[in-house]
Amino acid sequence: MIGKHYVLTGGTSGLGQSILQSLLHKSVYVTVLARNPEKLNYIKAQYDTNHLTIIKCDLQSQAQILDLDMHFKHTKIDGFIYSSGLGYFKSIENHTVTEMQETYNLNVVHFNILLKVLQPYLSKNPSIVGIGSQSAFLTQGYAAHYGGSKAALNQVLNALRIEKPNYHVMTVNTGPIATPFHDKADPTLKFAQKYKKMMLNPDVLADQIINSIINKKIELNEPKWMHIMLKFYQLLPRFIEKNFVSLFKNKA
Ligand SMILES: NC(=O)c1ccc[n+]([C@@H]2O[C@H](COP(=O)([O-])OP(=O)(O)OC[C@H]3O[C@@H](n4cnc5c(N)ncnc54)[C@H](OP(=O)(O)O)[C@@H]3O)[C@@H](O)[C@H]2O)c1
Repeated sequence: MIGKHYVLTGGTSGLGQSILQSLLHKSVYVTVLARNPEKLNYIKAQYDTNHLTIIKCDLQSQAQILDLDMHFKHTKIDGFIYSSGLGYFKSIENHTVTEMQETYNLNVVHFNILLKVLQPYLSKNPSIVGIGSQSAFLTQGYAAHYGGSKAALNQVLNALRIEKPNYHVMTVNTGPIATPFHDKADPTLKFAQKYKKMMLNPDVLADQIINSIINKKIELNEPKWMHIMLKFYQLLPRFIEKNFVSLFKNKA
């Protein structure tokens, strides 16, 4: 990946931050789209700043995403990694209208708008990587919109792979990761405490993602045991939901 140019979102925190460090370690030129660029000051001090470009952009704003076009004129993009995302662990009834819109906009709608803006500048065989979630594959009581938005992201990426055979399109579906995501999703941190022991390490996951890009994998599912269990669940989903109801309320 040395010398390639990647565009990254979510690079200021959690998994995206770990991906950013992995990319810079590999001497990749990275353009980070961030609503809080000052969060990257410590990275600028640590790495070769020639390799890092930061563009301020609030990914909840369609207008700001469309304005990005001018920044990419005369550039070539070899890869695009979309790691920004959010979710609210609460009932459907308790989501505010703003929370619903924020979830779908950031997790799926604005991914599509940003892809459309970047497409004219993509190289011949670019890598497009979406950070999805294992929650795309199961019914999510108390995180319905999060699961719904990640299921939609999965479908879009799978269709993109078919429509654009020259693209390498990879979906990363992960279980819980130890990141600040949980502070916003559930400020009581009940879910995070309960699943602390099984949370994935973002640095390890970031290295797996980079290796998977190099090896042109189309899916990365972690942890593997969770993905296998969800395959069995998909054989009889309504039966399992009815008879093991507590499994589907773990975000309550
Ligand atoms: N953590 C988990 O348990 C888990 C599990 C499965 C999947 N995922 C997925 O993994 C991805 C990475 O999440 P994470 O765990 O690393 O979460 P995180 O630590 O909360 O990071 C989220 C990133 O998205 C950025 N972001 C949020 N809203 C934005 C906006 N309006 N404009 C620009 N950037 C914005 C944040 O920027 P700021 O720094 O400015 O806030 C931050 O860099 C997400 O897609 C998430 O859905 C996470």
